[in-house]
Amino acid sequence: MSADEHKKMAAMRAVEMVEPGMRIGLGTGSTAAHFVALLGARVNAGLSVICVPTSEETRKFGESRGIKMSTLEDEPELDITFDGADEIDGDLNMIKGGGGALLREKIVAMASDRVVIMVDESKLVDTLGAFKLPVEVVQFGLAVTIDMIEALAADCGCEGEIALRKTAGGEPFVTDNGNFILDCDFGQIEDAEELEDALRYVPGVVESGLFVDICDVAIVSGDDGVRLIESEREDRGDDEA
Ligand code: 5RP
Repeated sequence: MSADEHKKMAAMRAVEMVEPGMRIGLGTGSTAAHFVALLGARVNAGLSVICVPTSEETRKFGESRGIKMSTLEDEPELDITFDGADEIDGDLNMIKGGGGALLREKIVAMASDRVVIMVDESKLVDTLGAFKLPVEVVQFGLAVTIDMIEALAADCGCEGEIALRKTAGGEPFVTDNGNFILDCDFGQIEDAEELEDALRYVPGVVESGLFVDICDVAIVSGDDGVRLIESEREDRGDDEA
């Protein structure tokens, strides 16, 4: 089975978790698109849900499939979010942002009671970092931001090329929020939480693609079938209590 077929298998398992009336966050990327297509089929068969997309791409695709789309302004509390990931480790920490939607993905995930991540088995790693870490940065002062990221990441043992993401046409890639993405080739990230904290210290950094302690359930599809890995952390609601 190809990686894309595994993504679809994971999405098929995920869509079974959807219940009538749910307020749902919708991720971005090819795995999330499988989920949206499957959810659209259920909606067309009569399921009533309301969804908040993590990108304009997902908004358009969801609407084309007949799914009612809303915003966090109208639906600030979501029951569940379904998204993909670029890498996920055994503690369910992740690298996301391959599709450039990491900021909205993190905002929507943090507004959700539960976060379900759908991946093909190739995304499951012992240590994060083979995938270049996307970091969303403001356009102003780019060179200064890169220098600060370099210095602070080095303090965390992370060194490597930092490249401005470009479109196929060679122009800087601009996110839905009007920012740039830096792809950081740091190699193995031994302490994702430490690096995430360090990156937050850089004024020009809007958000990093490190998602620490956010995923509740990973649905992993591989040649041996589909399995669920559940996080041991408490619900986000309990964290805040
Ligand atoms: C987009 C993301 C995606 O979830 C991630 O890139 C995985 O994409 P795909 O499902 O296409 O493999 O973080 O910003």
